[in-house]
Amino acid sequence: MKLRITHTLALAAIVATATFQLAAAEDIIIADFEGPDYGSWKASGDAFGSKPARGTLPGQMTVSGYEGKGLANSFNQGDDSTGTLISPEFRIQRPFIHFLIGGGKNPTKLSLSLVVDGKSVRTSTGPNDQAGGSEALALESWDVREFMGKDAAIQIIDDAKGGWGHINVDHIVQTERRAPQIQSNVQREFKITKQYLHLPIQNGAPKRLVTALVDGHVQVRNDVELANGKPDWWAPMDVSEWKGRSLTLQVDRLRDDSSALSSIHESDSIAGSESLYQEPLRGQFHFSPRRGWNNDPNGMVFFKGEYHLFFQHNPYGWGWGNMHWGHAVSKDLVHWTELGDKLAPDAYGPMFSGSAVVDWKNTSGLGKDGQAPLVLIYTAAGDPTVQCIASSLDGRHFQKFEGNPVIPQITGGNRDPKVMWHEPTQRWVMVLYVGFPGDKHTVYFFTSPNLRDWKHASTTEGMAKSGYLFECPDFFELAVDGNPANRKWVLAGANTEYGIGTFDGTRFTPEYSRLPGQRGRGFYAPQTFSDIPSSDGRRIQIGWFQTETKGMTFNQSMTIPLELNLISTSDGPRLTYTPVKELSALRSKSHRMSQRKLSAGGENPAQAVQAELMEIRAELEPGDAKEIALTVRGSAIVYDVSKQELSVNGHRVPAPLRGGKQRLTVFCDRTGLEVFASDGLTYVPMPFQPHPNDRNVWLGASGGTATASSFEIHELRSAWKSR
Ligand code: FRU
Repeated sequence: MKLRITHTLALAAIVATATFQLAAAEDIIIADFEGPDYGSWKASGDAFGSKPARGTLPGQMTVSGYEGKGLANSFNQGDDSTGTLISPEFRIQRPFIHFLIGGGKNPTKLSLSLVVDGKSVRTSTGPNDQAGGSEALALESWDVREFMGKDAAIQIIDDAKGGWGHINVDHIVQTERRAPQIQSNVQREFKITKQYLHLPIQNGAPKRLVTALVDGHVQVRNDVELANGKPDWWAPMDVSEWKGRSLTLQVDRLRDDSSALSSIHESDSIAGSESLYQEPLRGQFHFSPRRGWNNDPNGMVFFKGEYHLFFQHNPYGWGWGNMHWGHAVSKDLVHWTELGDKLAPDAYGPMFSGSAVVDWKNTSGLGKDGQAPLVLIYTAAGDPTVQCIASSLDGRHFQKFEGNPVIPQITGGNRDPKVMWHEPTQRWVMVLYVGFPGDKHTVYFFTSPNLRDWKHASTTEGMAKSGYLFECPDFFELAVDGNPANRKWVLAGANTEYGIGTFDGTRFTPEYSRLPGQRGRGFYAPQTFSDIPSSDGRRIQIGWFQTETKGMTFNQSMTIPLELNLISTSDGPRLTYTPVKELSALRSKSHRMSQRKLSAGGENPAQAVQAELMEIRAELEPGDAKEIALTVRGSAIVYDVSKQELSVNGHRVPAPLRGGKQRLTVFCDRTGLEVFASDGLTYVPMPFQPHPNDRNVWLGASGGTATASSFEIHELRSAWKSR
């Protein structure tokens, strides 16, 4: 009996040992950079700072792909700083070392190395050696079986300056797991039968170069944050022009366990189209792209009864990149239909911002059979960066001009051509942003008889980087107070600061310069429509509205269309912004309150109204009140009577009374507010996401009694549903 027990115990012990030997040994963390400092690692120089970075450092593109909260990031004090980070000695006890690595590519100056016996025996560097690129860290590994049992150290070196002069490292572990291997130029062939191929996107994943080839010829290349597994969203790639043919997709670097290529599938509709435009953070009357990212509006023109809105579009990412010209049309400036991308990156580079005109006299020769062509003028931002044109007869199909580029590179920073027909001199005028090294910013004026041959006519000197001549210039003439005999030219930059002056067909002479434009936040790079019929005569602007929509399959949007006018003030003529009248088509139910007094304890005239999308108009006489407050779905719009300042969500701006009154107009959507005050002299766009359940409006006054001589709330319907 005794023997038998012993025997059983011995057996159990043997089984236990065997099990122990079969189970994978646990990973040993060499560093996860989660602590408050580098612990026993030694940092020298400035590049790594005195402690691990908590993600992105000031001035750096968004860093992604690290684990936890911290990482070693040598962007401390920018790209020019240098330094090293060295681990304490450790024993190599597992066959593989895995780590996450990102940043600049430079095997000698930016490296992560394993040092054994004083020699570097394994080394890796980051993936980026060109402008643009990605700050995503990716998993890599070393096979260190031959060094098992030896003592070693890890050394991270940043000896590089200038662009991509930094390295990011995180989560270094010893492990028994073999890491997935990276394969180069992996291909899959598709026989195209439908409109779209759906690419799996994981926001923040390392960017992979995806090339589409037909008959061995490169059609388009994009940097895509490909998902190796389950995607955050599917990006539709329009392949309809290759229907019936075979198309090869090639990915430059792909993990061998990735399902990215195998998961790509065909379809005639975009994924998730059932809920398109109903997404929780979809602006309901602000244009946004169906999928992907937008920034600047481009090529705004009225042609054949339609307003055309092109836009800087990344069809394959939630963030900026792969600049295409997206395209949407509207008959009324309110209801937009997105038509798909019209200009895709080519050998000249990505398609940066620009404008459009109708060439009524066919000066370009790009028209046909008496039809005037629509001509797009854009920047191809490769190396060199050049100006190009493309044309269309129907507003749907566009052809790039064979004689491109039409303006060679001046400096690498020349971009965003805005073109207009100048009637008095019977020729085309282009304003082009031209930046010089040393923060010098100018606008070049060019003239052309035919949109193809351009002559430099004059230069307007820029100011500081934040000055009115930085990027995306717009240039147009307006009648002061609607008086056609008193017309002035307005030259504006991307941040909306502007100058007012005269133009002789060659040179702009400012009479007032650096006037502030809009006063809000998240408004940039607006443009105005070309070719609005003279019977209408309005100058209508749309800006990029920087409404970030985390968790959505799209990001950013456009403002509502704004009518621009010049009115006289005691300081001289000034721009005003007014929502276009067409927006009233969205009103579904209107509440008009009679004249009433507003005071601290008074009742809220808007008590009965609950709405999600709203246009509010109030005419206010301050009386002896100190403040008049309008709260719209949790957003506080407060007028400080004595200072004549308006505060929108805490952002204070000047808003003078006009004839003793303050007239406020507020548009409220799911992603932002646009507030107009002082008869349009004060326009405050404000990205803001109201709580979905807060649908209240409140109007009141404090410190005295004010009067609301009129107060209207218009509930709005979605512009998408009624298209
Ligand atoms: C402004 C801008 C333009 C450029 C475009 C690129 O937002 O930087 O100058 O053409 O965006 O997307």
